[in-house]
Parts: sequence; C-alpha cells; structure tokens
Amino acid sequence: MAKEKKTFDLKEYPFPTEEIPRLNIDNPETEKRIAAGLPVVITDSGLVRSALHWDLDYLQGNIGDGKFTVYKSKNKKFQYFDDKKVDTFKDFEKPMEHLDLTFPEFVKKLKTAKPGKDKVYLQQALNEGVGKRIVADFLGFNWSWVTEQQKKNKFGALTSNLLLIGMEGNVTPAHYDEQENFFAQIRGYKRFILFHPDQFKCMYPYPTYHPCDRQSQVDFDNPDYKRFPKFKDVKGYETVVGPGDVLFLPMYWWHQVESLPDHGHTISVTFWYKAGPIGNVVYPLSPQQKVSMMRNLEKMIHQALNNTDEIPEFMQNMVLGRYTDPPA
Ligand code: FUM
Ligand code: FE
Repeated sequence: MAKEKKTFDLKEYPFPTEEIPRLNIDNPETEKRIAAGLPVVITDSGLVRSALHWDLDYLQGNIGDGKFTVYKSKNKKFQYFDDKKVDTFKDFEKPMEHLDLTFPEFVKKLKTAKPGKDKVYLQQALNEGVGKRIVADFLGFNWSWVTEQQKKNKFGALTSNLLLIGMEGNVTPAHYDEQENFFAQIRGYKRFILFHPDQFKCMYPYPTYHPCDRQSQVDFDNPDYKRFPKFKDVKGYETVVGPGDVLFLPMYWWHQVESLPDHGHTISVTFWYKAGPIGNVVYPLSPQQKVSMMRNLEKMIHQALNNTDEIPEFMQNMVLGRYTDPPA
C-alpha cells in the first residue's frame, strides 16, 4: 500500500548519515538483514496491526486504573539512568524525574505542557493491569511473524513490550541496549539515528559503574571535541518511522530517538528479546563481542577495587604510555 510520504524539518547534526533501508516484509533481503544483525525498517509486517487505532482517548478509556511510569524532563532530553547506581555518585544530577501517574494524570500533563517547559514521556511495560480491550489488541499483534523471527535468529526470551508515549520534540539521547528490539511505531513519527557497534570509540560511553552506563557522554547539540575528539569521525544511519513501520534495532547498535511533530505526541511499542546463546566463539571477534568483553573487564575491575575513586588511576596506569599513542 503506497503511503503518503511525510516530510519533516529535521535538525542537522555535524556528522554524515546514510538511510536505513526500508523493505517490505516479503522482500527476501529483509530476513537477510535481520539474520546478519543489520537494522532495517520493515513495512507491512502487521506487527501492531490491532493497535493502529490507539490514541490518547482510547488508551485512557481502556488501559486501566493503575499507576504508570512517566519521566519528566526540564529540557527535551530523556536520558536513562540506573537508580541503583545513583548512590555511588555523590554529585550525580538526575537527568530526568521519575513520576508514577494514573493515565489521566499523564494525559493532562501532556496536553497542558507549555512549549519550552517541562516535557513528559510515559514508558511503561504492557502488563496484566491493562483493560480487556487492550488485552484483545495485544493478542491481535502479529505474534506468529515475530516469534518466527525470534526462533530463526535464535534470540532469547521476549522480556518486555514497553509502551512509549512521547511528546513532540522528546529526545532519547544516544545509547545502546543489550537486547534485540523490534520497535513498532503506532501513532506519529520518530526519527532514529543509529551507529554501528564499531563506532564505540567515537561515542564515549559513561563508565559501566556510572548511572548513565550505555549512554554516550557526547551532547549531540553541542559536541565537546576537546574531550571527545573522535566524535568528529562518527558516521551514522537514519530513518523516520511512522504508523505500522517496524524498525529492527539490533543489540549493541547505538541509537538516538526523536519524536517528530504530527499529532503532538507519538505512540510506540517495543518487542525486546534477550540475546541468544553464545555458541562457539569465532575469531576475529565481532565489534559487539568486543564491547561485551570491555564491559565485563570494566565491571571486574570495579568489583575488585571496590572504590570508584581508584578506577581512573588504575585504568590510566594500565594504558597510558603503553597502549596509547606516544605524545606528538
Ligand atoms: O524514545 C524511544 O523511543 C526510545 C527507544 C529505545 O531506546 O529503544
Ligand atoms: Fe534503546
């Protein structure tokens, strides 16, 4: 089905990007890319066909009376942080505030938000608390296709379906996840900017023991090239997903996500799958395996030293002048 092509005034960033291919579900290249661990926008999958009518009114009437996880940000950025690691960082300023709101409370905040003021972003796993109609819609997802992909590609268990309801302009800054994701767009449009796991050196993630582990330290709006010089060399991929589109977002791929103006809000659902079994290690290691190895080494060092203050000196003694380039 030909869709009306939407155009958006997209913010320009100081790095080049290539388009992520958009392929029909029946195109043999689609499955080849998923099998190769490469991102692809899959069209006509019907993955969330039974939810394409979801809007704020319908959800408000049917999603249930429980509390929902909502984040509030003073700027447009919603940078994830791990609450469990916050205490190890005395001066850590939480990039966003966590609220537990009923759905109507959230909708009120979303509708009354003033431009340039606080923004909100609902991020809640779909669970048993939802009403009957939402359960029926959920059961109507194209489970046979997505489960076939899970099996063919030896992904682990489905861990969650996160419902995301964002405001126009919300940004989830660049980070990577340790799970495979079929990201399904339901309402409105989102821009995804992706980077291959081999771009790790350009992205400067926070240390693993930091609350913002897995997030890039680089502020895309104002990159500090003195601290992060290799960010100048970064190359990305991008796409805009709209209702019915599914982005296969492979594990360890960096991504920044931006909600674009359309209805004033966006609705999406993730299908997150654990990594499959490792199997035989084949050399040379993939960039993904190297990232995983670096993470494990970092975590071991942190555990052994038992004191975050000692880590910088320990790491520097290990590499400076030995594994780093000689001074110019
Ligand atoms: O804002 C978002 O839709 C983020 C999704 C993700 O990080 O997976
Ligand atoms: Fe993510």
